Amino acid sequence: MSLVAGPGRGGALDGQLPDELQLVAEKHVAYIQKLDTRRDELEYHLTEHLRLSGIYWGLTALHLLHRADALPRDGVLDFVLSCLHENGGFGAAPGHDPHMLYTISGVQILAMVDGFDELEKRVTDGKRKIADFVASLQQVNGTFAGDEWGETDTRFLYGALNVLSLLGYLPHQRPNEEPALIDVKAAIAHIKACQNFDGGFGVAPGAESHSGQIFTCLAALSIAGELDSYLGEEGKDRLGAWLSERQLDDSGGLNGRPMKLVDVCYSWWVGSSLAMIERLHWIDKKKLATFILQCQDPVEGGVADRPGDMVDVFHTHFAIAGLSLLGYPGVGEVDAT
Ligand code: FPP
Ligand code: ZN
Repeated sequence: MSLVAGPGRGGALDGQLPDELQLVAEKHVAYIQKLDTRRDELEYHLTEHLRLSGIYWGLTALHLLHRADALPRDGVLDFVLSCLHENGGFGAAPGHDPHMLYTISGVQILAMVDGFDELEKRVTDGKRKIADFVASLQQVNGTFAGDEWGETDTRFLYGALNVLSLLGYLPHQRPNEEPALIDVKAAIAHIKACQNFDGGFGVAPGAESHSGQIFTCLAALSIAGELDSYLGEEGKDRLGAWLSERQLDDSGGLNGRPMKLVDVCYSWWVGSSLAMIERLHWIDKKKLATFILQCQDPVEGGVADRPGDMVDVFHTHFAIAGLSLLGYPGVGEVDAT
């Protein structure tokens, strides 16, 4: 997902939600600000393997709440660049091995804080090094590995296209460069091979459809400019039907696949997928917004996967991103890729 700075869609849900349910935006800002000061708590150390992505989630939530100033830009830049390895890959924290997942977060943060000039100042050919790291992970069948150990997943393929697009290193962004850094055709052929009869996509060819993977596959198709031509209206209808069945009548929340529990993060994975195929109006937005707001901790801030559970920064971010998709007043806009 990338941010589009803007005032928000404003007003789409105005006056429609119960009065007692409000977005406690300032509490969420304080919750995110406090995350980095809890260094004496066990949870801080248990989440070190996720640190760079945690900063991406927190910072994106702050941007959407129009409080980008709530984390110091210099400190964020220093930390991100301290996670960058000589080979162009980012680890989750200093000293952690480079991996595609943290390279996505590192580049998304740099894009969000306008940090590419600083990257080039501190690391010679920094953007090119990162692009080379990502390109080195493409496999012969077109998909991407997460790191040198070779596990593949459509998350990594989406991540590769997203990172290269943000860096300006996709082949169509550099038409005069031969050979192209990656084979986009082979990557997209792999995505198409991951589609199932129900219209959804799985983690690999033949794997069960899952909303998280659907997000990655649609986003990859979208970045490659192939979403509309590949799916067509009929494909979008079939997939839209499967995705909108993820909303459960009782809670209004969304699950990620049939027979599973609702979870606030699917507000983004399912919601943005529906937005990419122009079918977001197929779910009940008011019921989803109500569910998201019920997952908040109204006292300490932060959002949990389900009402009453422990909050975390991952679900806080995806809840606020979900509210953004729904046009919740006061929340900025994202674009769904
Ligand atoms: C749980 O699966 C997984 C999630 C809630 C995350 C899904 C999102 C993705 C796969 C896309 C991630 C993209 C990037 C770029 C990192 P589960 O099988 O444990 O949960 P379930 O019981 O809800 O199906
Ligand atoms: Zn979740």
